[in-house]
Amino acid sequence: MLGALLGIFSKMATYILLLAFLALTCTVALASDHSPLQDFCVAESSSAVLVNGLVCKDPKLVQADYFFFSGLQLSGNTSNPVGSKVTLFDVAKISGLNTLGVSMARVDYAPWGVNPPHTHPRASEILTVLEGILEVGFVTSNPENRLITKVLQKGDVFVFPANLIHFQRNVGYGNAVAIAALNSQNPGVITIANAVFGSKPDISSDILVKAFQVDKNVINYVQSRF
Ligand SMILES: *[C@@H]1O[C@H](CO)[C@@H](O)[C@H](O)[C@H]1NC(C)=O
Repeated sequence: MLGALLGIFSKMATYILLLAFLALTCTVALASDHSPLQDFCVAESSSAVLVNGLVCKDPKLVQADYFFFSGLQLSGNTSNPVGSKVTLFDVAKISGLNTLGVSMARVDYAPWGVNPPHTHPRASEILTVLEGILEVGFVTSNPENRLITKVLQKGDVFVFPANLIHFQRNVGYGNAVAIAALNSQNPGVITIANAVFGSKPDISSDILVKAFQVDKNVINYVQSRF
């Protein structure tokens, strides 16, 4: 009798542990934007209330233009040191994107232009090439830091997993254009070079000397470039 009871208890304990584990892994998997709790929640930009996301407009006042933005046909100006331009259509441009967990971007590349290594803190990205040839890649996390890279032709699609450092380079002789979709209304971007060498104020060069295992002059020089 006692043995049978103990057996039941130990089975229950196993189930509880399993449930706790599932709950934990589900929490981790929910790192992207939360699901909406209504049809839409067009952002009310004038609200003084601060929430995670943006406060909703009165749905009765919502018009088609809140879900609309034009201009993705226009090429971005790539006359800059990296030779690329990202035009992002996020919740800041389309208020109707609030709570919907999506956004999109057009990226223009001059010949040999680079969209330099960066991460999106809140989104995975799926990208397709409309024009030109792109070399793309991302790097897996420590300790492997494996580079996963491919050359894309017009019509090819490539995925950059959330948070991982990734880049694109135009390896053709003409301009290149890509369209990307991201699973956040506000994917955010951290450009590695700017964040590490161009922070305000600077990260102490002593820290970067150890991190990058180079001379202080090298760090001071790179910092001066940002
Ligand atoms: C593109 O950007 C460069 C550098 O900022 C600027 O000199 C040029 O006028 C811009 N071109 C257009 C068409 O806006």
